[in-house]
Amino acid sequence: MYKRKELKKISNTLDKEIINLINEQIWLENNASFYYLYLSTQFSMNGYSGISKFFLEQSNEEREHMLKLVEYLLDEDITPQIPNYNYLEDLEEKFNILSHFENSLMNEKRVSSSINDIVSKCKEKGDIKTENFMQWFVIEQREEENKFKSIIDDIKIIGDSGSGLYELNKQLGSVTEEE
Ligand SMILES: [Fe+2]
Ligand SMILES: [Fe+2]
Repeated sequence: MYKRKELKKISNTLDKEIINLINEQIWLENNASFYYLYLSTQFSMNGYSGISKFFLEQSNEEREHMLKLVEYLLDEDITPQIPNYNYLEDLEEKFNILSHFENSLMNEKRVSSSINDIVSKCKEKGDIKTENFMQWFVIEQREEENKFKSIIDDIKIIGDSGSGLYELNKQLGSVTEEE
């Protein structure tokens, strides 16, 4: 006689290692948010209100990324670890437009590699749901890195040109949230 297969007990919770990586990512996105907020104030203090606005926008975007991850864990009934401190690099660094952008690119590369780690771990553990969710971040990071790379290229062309910096400041200040 046909026997109904016994239902296997299915655990819906995410793998512990994946949870840890997502919590680390929450910390990184939050840290990036504060780092860009810091840069925003530096550019403002040095008279570049347009670039200051650009970094404020970056800061807001990073906060959005953090919230996306927080929400994902909450949807999975997992308590996210909300960061209670930030680590800001190059705080002592002298104001230098090029190096601030180069450090920003480095920051983005670090974020990209930790996102890649999460995707790899998902593949290893067979967590298709989280892997799929993380694809948005993979695309986002590619865009972020390209954005900073092209601004760095522009800054290198501009050099010390006052009118070039004036234009760059104006251009970055007019970038809208959709971009
Ligand atoms: Fe981000
Ligand atoms: Fe970013």
